[in-house]
Amino acid sequence: MGSINKQYSEEGDVVVLVVPFPLQGHLNQLLHLSRLISTRNVVVHFVGTTPHNHQARRRMINGCDDDPKSIANLIFHDFPSLDYQSPPPDPNSAIKFPSHLQPLIDATSLLRHPVGELIRRLSDKNRRVAIIYDSLMGSVVQDFVDFPNAEAYTFHSVSAFSIFFFLWENMGRPFEMDEEILKMVPSIQGCFTPEFVKFVQNQHGYMNSSSGRIYNTCRVIEKQSLDLLARTEISKKKKQWALGPFNPVNITTKSHECLNWLEKQSPNSVILVSFGTTTSLSDEQIKELAIGLEKSGVNFIWVLRDADKGDGDGEVLTKADQLLPDGYAERVKNRGIVLGDWAPQLEILGHFAIGGFLSHCGWNSCMESISMGVPIAAWPMHSDQPRNAVLVTKALKIGILVKEWDHRRDEIVKSSTVESALRRLMASEEGEEMRKRAAEMGADVRNAVAEGGVTHMELESFISHIIR
Ligand SMILES: *[C@@H]1O[C@H](CO)[C@@H](O)[C@H](O)[C@H]1NC(C)=O
Ligand SMILES: *[C@@H]1O[C@H](CO)[C@@H](O)[C@H](O)[C@H]1NC(C)=O
Repeated sequence: MGSINKQYSEEGDVVVLVVPFPLQGHLNQLLHLSRLISTRNVVVHFVGTTPHNHQARRRMINGCDDDPKSIANLIFHDFPSLDYQSPPPDPNSAIKFPSHLQPLIDATSLLRHPVGELIRRLSDKNRRVAIIYDSLMGSVVQDFVDFPNAEAYTFHSVSAFSIFFFLWENMGRPFEMDEEILKMVPSIQGCFTPEFVKFVQNQHGYMNSSSGRIYNTCRVIEKQSLDLLARTEISKKKKQWALGPFNPVNITTKSHECLNWLEKQSPNSVILVSFGTTTSLSDEQIKELAIGLEKSGVNFIWVLRDADKGDGDGEVLTKADQLLPDGYAERVKNRGIVLGDWAPQLEILGHFAIGGFLSHCGWNSCMESISMGVPIAAWPMHSDQPRNAVLVTKALKIGILVKEWDHRRDEIVKSSTVESALRRLMASEEGEEMRKRAAEMGADVRNAVAEGGVTHMELESFISHIIR
């Protein structure tokens, strides 16, 4: 814990208020960051609606130690559920962006008043309120400027690589970039809906009153992009901290059917297949993937579930059996598991039997995979994922691209493509090289988080800054 031992919660000193965006990939990151800050003896208030706070807590248990001390300074504010429609996802929509979540996204504006009220209460009782808010919640926290002892830090939930190019393009390309690098960066076409782009632009408009930025990334993997983000044109001379990975790196394994199964497999022999919480595959795509997995001969754990609905109301169980080809489960029963439910992803990735991850490249998943030293077969679906996929495969060289974005994003990925990608990652010399690089990078990242490492020191620097 370094030299910071004082209890900052006492005598109304400094408190942190965390305001996450209520989608799992965002909630999870800020809940883990809250845990990290609270173990530094700073009280953290975490706000959200009751169902989303419950969802985040329920799903975070995995991988964390159960030491109650680690969350003793963490106070949850469960606001009443908001009023909005929560339609099911559409697995056949033209673009994969989860537009069924737009009503929830729009409803977040209703949090402005309860959050403003909480800021007022905290600012009355404490020397300083340091607000860490998701960059998509700028309008919700905007009233903090009325309180002289409140200050805000913007959290970006995506890779430094992705957010740099988004910001640089949005600002009208304020400086030259190497053409070779630009050629690597996939187009923004097909990544978002127009409604969501408008929403983001509006939220980013509030960044002018923020005191600095926080990234869930690590200098040992993204130094180049972090240096670009630090340039005056982008940073406006405000401070930035790279505090990732936020997820635990020394994980405590609990029991789960798939972990018990992994115990019986040989090292690096199994691939994890999962596309996160915001993607539903079409029936046709599920079939092609199933056949590809079967033909590849690679052992697998496949998390086959629908995208979350907006209500935070628990798990969406896919009728996996009904979607798979006839007799499939029987044919693959000795070498594959299909899970239709929430899976302990970090623990699975940390298991010795896992040798690869077929992933949509949501940033949470990338960070978990990198910190566990697992190479990635990248199959991006929407948002920042196409750019994360390029970071992982072309810049870091710890993975292969299964789906190319600019020309093939609208195509079904055929079983033959799945089959050859899995063989390449799991059973080729090239794949072995990537696995080696991923393992080394994982070790570097875990060292960065440990006492004396670069991430550890950056967190100390952030804490020192807010308790100054
Ligand atoms: C910051 O941006 C908001 C929203 O665009 C605007 O209302 C506000 O006046 C700006 N504040 C400063 C200090 O520029
Ligand atoms: C993880 O465990 C190792 C070995 O016990 C230890 O050296 C390291 O500091 C731990 N890392 C963190 C982040 O606690």
